Amino acid sequence: MVNLDMSKYSIVTMDEVHSTNAYALENISFFDDKTVIYTSRQTAGRGRFNRKWVCDDSDNIYMSLILKSDNFKSYPFANLTQYLSVCICKMLKSEFNIEAEIKWPNDILVNGAKISGILAETYTADNNIKAIILGLGLNVNMDKNTLEKIDQKATSLFDITKKHYDSEKVLKLLVDIFFENYETFVNKGFEYIKEDYIKRCKFLNKKIKISENGEKKEYFAKSIDNEGLLIAQDEFGNESKIITGDILC
Ligand code: BTN
Repeated sequence: MVNLDMSKYSIVTMDEVHSTNAYALENISFFDDKTVIYTSRQTAGRGRFNRKWVCDDSDNIYMSLILKSDNFKSYPFANLTQYLSVCICKMLKSEFNIEAEIKWPNDILVNGAKISGILAETYTADNNIKAIILGLGLNVNMDKNTLEKIDQKATSLFDITKKHYDSEKVLKLLVDIFFENYETFVNKGFEYIKEDYIKRCKFLNKKIKISENGEKKEYFAKSIDNEGLLIAQDEFGNESKIITGDILC
């Protein structure tokens, strides 16, 4: 059992910042567990695999959730981004009636276009993880013009519903859902979200291409195991567990 502080989260709002993840890491000692750093404008947002995360003036969500503990021993690190991805899908369904899908491990797609991405980073001291920075970008009001400049198919709440939203309100809805079951997730791990995760997985039982350490490989996506890893079969029928990578679509 991991002991967690059940108290509510706090939100630090900034008009503009280079990257909420970078800012959180640079100032980590000033922030308590369950602090959310939020901005609607990032000037140097970073994505997975050193990619850039695009921002324009249209009021989107750029946020980092800081999770701290002196004892992360039994913490389900590898599945935290998957837990958040399930929370995003639930929020999109309950608040906007949008059916979203998950592209393993944690991209959120609507009608095949990416609406949200997650980048988890850790802060380590004395060889121990002291904090997790869970960064999330969600396209809220981005219009077609900017979306078309992104190097993969992308969408936004505005693009889907043709309505504008206050991104800070959407952020609160999401963070509430995240913390509602966070303690249970931490204690039970991937098992707790497995069904919810798998039913939203877009590429299961399909042929996929994966970029692993810069190399592209073809597989058949067979299943997700109890640790949240992707079980993939190569052309010779050999199965492997994919730990990290990116499904190319
Ligand atoms: C991805 O590549 O899909 C992950 C994108 C993560 C972007 C978010 S925006 C808020 C936080 N700060 C950053 O610099 N990156 C993450």
